Amino acid sequence: MVNKLPKVVVVGSANMDLVVRAPRIPLRGETILGSDFQMIPGGKGANQAVAASKLGAAVWFIARLGADPFGSQLKSNLEKEGVETSFCSWSDQTATGVALITVDEGGENVIVVAPGANQLLGLEDIQAAEQVIASAQVVVAQLEIPLETIHYTASLTQTHHVPFILDPAPAQPLEQSLLSLVDVITPNETEARILTGVEVSDKETARVAALRLMEQGVGSVIITLGSKGYFIAHEQTMNLFPAPSVKVIDSTAAGDAFTGALAFSLAHGSSLAQAAQFANCGAALSVTQMGAQPSMPTREEVNHFRKNLASQVD
Ligand code: RIB
Repeated sequence: MVNKLPKVVVVGSANMDLVVRAPRIPLRGETILGSDFQMIPGGKGANQAVAASKLGAAVWFIARLGADPFGSQLKSNLEKEGVETSFCSWSDQTATGVALITVDEGGENVIVVAPGANQLLGLEDIQAAEQVIASAQVVVAQLEIPLETIHYTASLTQTHHVPFILDPAPAQPLEQSLLSLVDVITPNETEARILTGVEVSDKETARVAALRLMEQGVGSVIITLGSKGYFIAHEQTMNLFPAPSVKVIDSTAAGDAFTGALAFSLAHGSSLAQAAQFANCGAALSVTQMGAQPSMPTREEVNHFRKNLASQVD
């Protein structure tokens, strides 16, 4: 039964998110009073794994967790969400990754990550999962794990002709040797600027940034622009699509919802253009709920939302 589902492998981080709501993001050196402290499963890799799983993919997650209570809670939650965790290994040298998140009244956030065990995800973890990677329809990674591990994963996907999606978050410059192995990259505006030097604010600047990435060997580029939607550059086509208008409660992990939904949809056989439209709706729905993994929508929710949007256009 599991074999019939679209198969996605996610290589990445798992963090426990320590989240506080606050009236606004504090200034440097300032203390303010917040409310509603919550511990919520997060981490860009785990969020994308849960996003794809809730949409209906069979997801294998390759990660390192600390042998501590947060690690156990994150693993249990992944399993509850249907993610296959046999390639999540324990580290007794380092604690599970943690993210400190403040969310303001408008749903914007600031995040500081202590990566902990995520930084120990090594080549041996990827080698152990080579067969699963070789048989996947799509492999996804982000940048909260060592670059060497991402590079090795990308090379393996090329060897096995499996499409490789890179979400280049958190932002950092990347070598052309890695970019040239990426089939689809999904930066936001900040990440696109750090990768290309182009200040992305509209369709024209997104086009210039996308071309720079493609000149370095990236197959296709999707730049996510928050409430402005996304810019897609694929083969000869380049276009900007708006985001559906929604009430924003918490924008944490909107990018992860986008990349996870994109991976699911591509693995399911959609074209990149179709998958990006589906992902745009998944990301929009995710910001209407608090938290990272709990905010990832199901396939029924995304389909229902898309039907409503279509009926508003008709
Ligand atoms: O993208 C959101 C995620 O970034 C959070 O869940 C946090 O853990 C950090 O990894």
